[in-house]
Amino acid sequence: MKAIVYTKYGGTEVLQLKEAEKPSQRDDEVLIKVHAVSINDWDFGLLQGDFINRLLNGLRKPKRQILGSDIAGRIVAAGKNISKFKTGDEVYGDLSGQWGGFAEYVCAPEKSLAPKPPTMSFEEAAAIPQAAMLAVQGLIDKGKIYAGQKLLINGAGGGVGTFGIQIAKLYGVEVTGVDHTSKLDMMRSIGFDHVIDYLKEDFTKNGQRYDMILDTKTNRSMFDYTRALSSNGIYVTVGGSMSRLLQNLLLGPWISMICKKHMRLVALKTNKDLHYMNELFEAGKMKPVIDGPYKLEDFREAFRVFDKAEHKGKVVITI
Ligand SMILES: NC(=O)c1ccc[n+]([C@@H]2O[C@H](COP(=O)([O-])OP(=O)(O)OC[C@H]3O[C@@H](n4cnc5c(N)ncnc54)[C@H](OP(=O)(O)O)[C@@H]3O)[C@@H](O)[C@H]2O)c1
Repeated sequence: MKAIVYTKYGGTEVLQLKEAEKPSQRDDEVLIKVHAVSINDWDFGLLQGDFINRLLNGLRKPKRQILGSDIAGRIVAAGKNISKFKTGDEVYGDLSGQWGGFAEYVCAPEKSLAPKPPTMSFEEAAAIPQAAMLAVQGLIDKGKIYAGQKLLINGAGGGVGTFGIQIAKLYGVEVTGVDHTSKLDMMRSIGFDHVIDYLKEDFTKNGQRYDMILDTKTNRSMFDYTRALSSNGIYVTVGGSMSRLLQNLLLGPWISMICKKHMRLVALKTNKDLHYMNELFEAGKMKPVIDGPYKLEDFREAFRVFDKAEHKGKVVITI
């Protein structure tokens, strides 16, 4: 089968499109013909091999050589212990921990998969898993979003932000999005009430206060975020700068106690809310924002766009 393979850590230049061995499913797995896959920040961490990702995937060189977690495709074979799905079913899900999605075929346990609604394209399905789960778990589970709030999403034009706005609007919330100039028109078009260009304005210093901040970048100090929160406001981060995240963990409890402003960190529960996403999609209340789709042969351009953060929404590759 064709696959995007890497045998050493590095930048996008170490990725190669080549023939790889087609995997075989175990008893508790299905074999999927992959139709679409999206790129996540985690793929880049594993590609570049920072310390934490080397602990996961090999200190000197990558053990798993095919990355890619968020896949959508059709089941072509099922192990003997599979009960929820059968050959021919269209499915999607996040295979992080196992990876292998940047390929024509991948194996997956059935607990990592949800049925793909017939009206949802493979490209749309592949865009959903990680980013939409982080948005749902950030806004609803950790943030306890409710009507009438003022919400700010920092890093709003990427994966999490473009799902986050759609979920927030279901709750009747006023939403401000912060991102690069090039993404602001797209952000307005999907429902952001206000947009801020981070090159021109610092949202922590403009005098506005927000009831909730959902952060995909965590690129400021906790004191800056505290200043931008209203009394009893909640700051929820899904990821970003490691040193800032540590600061968040250390200072969060003190800030909660002293300022009555709350700091929360999302630990992704993979695939937990895919059925909710299916409900929203089928009710016409959610539509993934897709950058591309890029053909498999054009994978380098897809990775370049993601690497340079030029993407709007989710970068999707069709296979
Ligand atoms: N918590 C967990 O368990 C878990 C699991 C998986 C992933 N994650 C994390 O979740 C996050 C994924 O977010 P995502 O998919 O939405 O990422 P994304 O698609 O890369 O979007 C991030 C956006 O932020 C923008 N940005 C860059 N610098 C900015 C700044 N200074 N101010 C405001 N915006 C800025 C980027 O655009 P420009 O660069 O063009 O400005 C981009 O549009 C990552 O941080 C990842 O590490 C967390």
